[in-house]
Amino acid sequence: MTGTVKHTHWSKWKCPSNIALVKYWGKRDFQKPMNPSLSFVLQHAFTETSVELHKDGDQKVEFYFDGLPSSFGDRIEMYLDHVSTWLPWVNKYNFRIHSCNSFPHSAGIASSASSFGALALCLTELDFAISGKETDSPEFWKKASELARMGSGSACRSVYAGFSIWGQTQLFEACSDEHAIPLLDGVHPVFYGLQDAILMVDSGIKEVSSSVGHRLMDEHFYQRSRIAQAHENINKLYLALLTGNQLEFLEVVENEALSLHAMMMTSNPSFILLKPNSLELINRIRRFREKSKIPVCFTIDAGPNIHLLYFQENELDVKAFIERELLAFCENRKWIDDGIGNGPEKLMN
Ligand code: DP6
Repeated sequence: MTGTVKHTHWSKWKCPSNIALVKYWGKRDFQKPMNPSLSFVLQHAFTETSVELHKDGDQKVEFYFDGLPSSFGDRIEMYLDHVSTWLPWVNKYNFRIHSCNSFPHSAGIASSASSFGALALCLTELDFAISGKETDSPEFWKKASELARMGSGSACRSVYAGFSIWGQTQLFEACSDEHAIPLLDGVHPVFYGLQDAILMVDSGIKEVSSSVGHRLMDEHFYQRSRIAQAHENINKLYLALLTGNQLEFLEVVENEALSLHAMMMTSNPSFILLKPNSLELINRIRRFREKSKIPVCFTIDAGPNIHLLYFQENELDVKAFIERELLAFCENRKWIDDGIGNGPEKLMN
């Protein structure tokens, strides 16, 4: 973290969204994952949030989104109530929170990850300032990740640059269900410039909220196999990231995306979130890879939009392919040009 804390009652952070390569799907206990996940943060999709603590009036939370009062304040109030167990000072103040996103709400990008990431970073900074603790420490990021997780699971992976892992695995002892850890060391340079073209198939409201979606795993017939698969895939993916094995990377990432959707299709109730155009894009991406031998793949969240992942060295070819063959299947030819990012940033005003 750069910069020094000016005063103890105000904090502002910019925090990116992230896209999972190994998917978190299913919970245990309170906001703990059923399986480990691995993701990378985006560069251009982020939330900026400022938190001001005050003692005026009796409204606990005033929440403004894009400068206007928003009903999301109710969810924040419940969240603050919950985290006050770990941050007792929360009970002593009222909160004035301003937030805005760099991407439209309808973009199909996980806004809860960047929103709770940014909010958690503000709360962590305030907490460390109030208790006089050193902010430039691994403890700071761990706490921010843990607080973010309590708001939205995937948010805990948004507080680090590049790739991170959330959930216990055999990979490292430091892996935890409580918070994510960054994958700083050893990632092969070929992955430094990973690109993500978000192809917008449908910007409508999500058909299944993530909390409903996660619950579908509670009684899922394939629960045990899914957990085993996620562990196997995270091992394979981590090795691919270390060794620069692009082909293994593509294989695991697509397998995870389709497994997530397979879980939704085979749950009770069942959901088919992919649209005809999602399938068309998937088929075209695979055909392009076969023909051109350019390493591209797709990943998908719990919705119909397709994230086309590729490497910087192929940027020109892939962008020409998007323009030529894919935009016809996107809603109003809309896509977002993003890629791996450097993580959150503290803002001074
Ligand atoms: C499919 O983090 O949105 O994007 O913890 O209920 O807020 P909550 O769920 P959320 O779930 C994200 C699910 C996913 C996969 C992933 O990001 O790992």
